[in-house]
Amino acid sequence: MRVLVTGAAGSIGTVVCSGLVDRGHDVVGMDLKVEPEGFTGAWFTADCGDPDAVEAVFGAVVGGGGLDAVVHLASIPTEDSLPTILESHVITTGALLDAMVAHGVNRIVYASSNHAVGRTPRSDRLGTDVRPRPDTFYGVGKVAAEALLSLYVDRYGIDAVAARIGSFLPQPESRRGLSTWLSHDDAVRMVDACLSAPDPGFAVIYGISANTRAWWDLEPGRALGYHPRDDAEQFAAQVEQAPATEEDEVEAGYVGGPFVTERYFRPASLRP
Ligand SMILES: NC(=O)c1ccc[n+]([C@@H]2O[C@H](COP(=O)([O-])OP(=O)(O)OC[C@H]3O[C@@H](n4cnc5c(N)ncnc54)[C@H](O)[C@@H]3O)[C@@H](O)[C@H]2O)c1
Repeated sequence: MRVLVTGAAGSIGTVVCSGLVDRGHDVVGMDLKVEPEGFTGAWFTADCGDPDAVEAVFGAVVGGGGLDAVVHLASIPTEDSLPTILESHVITTGALLDAMVAHGVNRIVYASSNHAVGRTPRSDRLGTDVRPRPDTFYGVGKVAAEALLSLYVDRYGIDAVAARIGSFLPQPESRRGLSTWLSHDDAVRMVDACLSAPDPGFAVIYGISANTRAWWDLEPGRALGYHPRDDAEQFAAQVEQAPATEEDEVEAGYVGGPFVTERYFRPASLRP
């Protein structure tokens, strides 16, 4: 498959790009940053929030060999002002969706986040058929981007998979991470499955590894062919060496962990 990966210079992007290449995909990178060393495919240094820039990238990519799918990872991956968040998550997604429709590209895999439902009290198996319940403006941005994907699936018949990623790290670093970890290899497996699943329509999955202590349901992912192999449990003894703290308790209370705390409260009208 020929795949455009946005945010290709980022922490998930670099891992996913090389993983998709290893799995036989032809990967085109797009990012505000220049291409990282070792990147082998075509590269576009451009802003996903600028519709003209996105259109120019699609024109070049589609004209130069076609394009089968988009993996949209580009964003500010944490809390910010509401206007900045809407630009970073919703406007970028809209610009990409418009270009997909204009150029007949039928699939998008979107890096959503657990923070789309972060204010949900923690349970043993949160499904995907729950009320969107963001914990921050960041979470609001992810909910709105998921809604935009849903709209374009219904209007234009494209396929869109939103993966609510947990904690993408080489290994879990906290007690919460023992439940929310997404390993590097599983991230690649997940994106590849989302690209290959037959006719997903609009789908939401949780992007975590096969963690023994998982808080979120892996079945929606498995239904699309995402079969994670790693388990944070192998790091449990190491993580639990340090005594549990009050922070661990807060982090275990809600899906979004620390993002629910007052540290993240700010007025919506605050300008960037
Ligand atoms: N890392 C995690 O644990 C985690 C968890 C949940 C969701 N996510 C989501 O996954 C995605 C990737 O996260 P990451 O950790 O790799 O972040 P990152 O900051 O490492 O990478 C993001 C990349 O996107 C690029 N970028 C930002 N805005 C852009 C724009 N407008 N146009 C083009 N490029 C732009 C940045 O230059 C950067 O290289 C984000 O959408 C994030 O919200 C990440």
